[in-house]
Amino acid sequence: MDSPGVSGSLRNQLALTLIGGAAVLALLLFFAVRSYAVQVAQQGQNNILEASVTSMLDAAAIRDGRIELDLPYAAFSMLATPADDRVFYAILQDGVHLSGYEDLAFSQGATGGNLMFEIGEMRGGAVQKISASRTLIGANNRTEVQIVLAQTQDALSETLDQISRNAALLGLGFFGLAAALSFWATSATIGQLGKLTSSVTRRGPQDLSPFTKPVPREMAPLVTSLNSLMGRLDQSLSRSEDFIAEAAHRVRTPLATVRSYAEATLQRVDKEENREAMRSMVKAIDESSRAAGQLLDHAMITFRADHLEREEIDLVVVARELVLRLTPIADMKDLSLTLRGDPHVPYSGDLVLIQNAVRNLIDNAMKYSPAEGAIEVAVALHPRPQIRVCDRGPGFPTDEIEALTTRFRRGANAANTIGSGLGLTIAREVAQAHGGQIELANQEGGGACVTLSF
Ligand SMILES: Nc1ncnc2c1ncn2[C@@H]1O[C@H](COP(=O)(O)OP(=O)(O)OP(=O)(O)O)[C@@H](O)[C@H]1O
Ligand SMILES: [Mg+2]
Repeated sequence: MDSPGVSGSLRNQLALTLIGGAAVLALLLFFAVRSYAVQVAQQGQNNILEASVTSMLDAAAIRDGRIELDLPYAAFSMLATPADDRVFYAILQDGVHLSGYEDLAFSQGATGGNLMFEIGEMRGGAVQKISASRTLIGANNRTEVQIVLAQTQDALSETLDQISRNAALLGLGFFGLAAALSFWATSATIGQLGKLTSSVTRRGPQDLSPFTKPVPREMAPLVTSLNSLMGRLDQSLSRSEDFIAEAAHRVRTPLATVRSYAEATLQRVDKEENREAMRSMVKAIDESSRAAGQLLDHAMITFRADHLEREEIDLVVVARELVLRLTPIADMKDLSLTLRGDPHVPYSGDLVLIQNAVRNLIDNAMKYSPAEGAIEVAVALHPRPQIRVCDRGPGFPTDEIEALTTRFRRGANAANTIGSGLGLTIAREVAQAHGGQIELANQEGGGACVTLSF
């Protein structure tokens, strides 16, 4: 059977999309957590710097026209960090450096009590700077004191590294979970398709009934078109079966009529050469009638073999009926036709096919046996249900025996008999359709034996 072209895999496509989505979400999660952590940590440092600079400014006072500033110990101790971050400070009076680090500058000048933050660099390290100012009023002057405070960010970046690691782990965990979920979701989705496929596969070839099991909504159109296809197939199959039966009838009936006219004419013709012509005509009619019959039978068998109609039958009964029906024909040739074997051989098979096969075997035995021969039909249950037809004729031509069951193949011994070479083909196909086989053999004392085992 042809398998369809394959373009990609739905499972991979689905899994890739879901896992790709999960990866993007995991990255987003990582960056969102990290940037939020940066904000919170920076805010924390800023708050401490602000508290520290405010307490320093609070300690500033003006005495005798000079600024006096005792930096409170607490202002520095609150800036202590686990990473021993360094702290720099500068005190300016009206914009003029007063004490602390001279190289600690702030880009903007202090403006009336405002707090300002700035990121900068100090002694080769990144620092967070804060600047605050306060106006001091003395006895006869007012002056502006500004404090700039800077702190390195080692502790902060350590915390951030730690948070980044945790966020990365969180992202990875999320990704793993999402990947597992997408595999599960993919299998569950594809599983539905698999179920439908296996229920189509499990059906016997004769089962063309529609699918009624519920399927997911997305698959319903597929099942609907599958059902309609099977409906059409069923219809066209039964139409061909009717056609074969009709054709057989229409071909055989007029041929039989022509034959009887020819026979009748033959009786009335006296001239020998005319009689010879009439005889040839009758033979040709017999041949075409046989060929048409066998061809149509073969077509019917090919058709039915695809969808066997099995029923409980007794092979002995089948054989007996055929023997009874064919005895008159055997009698005309003085042949004895006998049945022997087991009394009952129950079997579940297609009656029409088995009848057809066995009739062809008995037909051969009668056709190829010399007059007054004995034909035996034996039915046995063991080792497998089987029907054997044996005659006492010349037997099969030994060099051709392998090929005789092929279509239209006739043996060298069949030159003077009417036939189309389909009888054994039919018998073989019937046996094979039932899972059985046909066996051709010659008997020791002479004669052919054909065994159909099911
Ligand atoms: N009982 C038999 N004894 C000897 N030869 C046989 C016997 N049965 C079949 N054969 C040989 O096998 C050949 C094939 O048989 P098969 O029944 O398929 O075709 P057929 O009898 O020639 O034609 P038909 O289709 O009309 O039956 C025959 O032509 C004949 O040579
Ligand atoms: Mg035959």
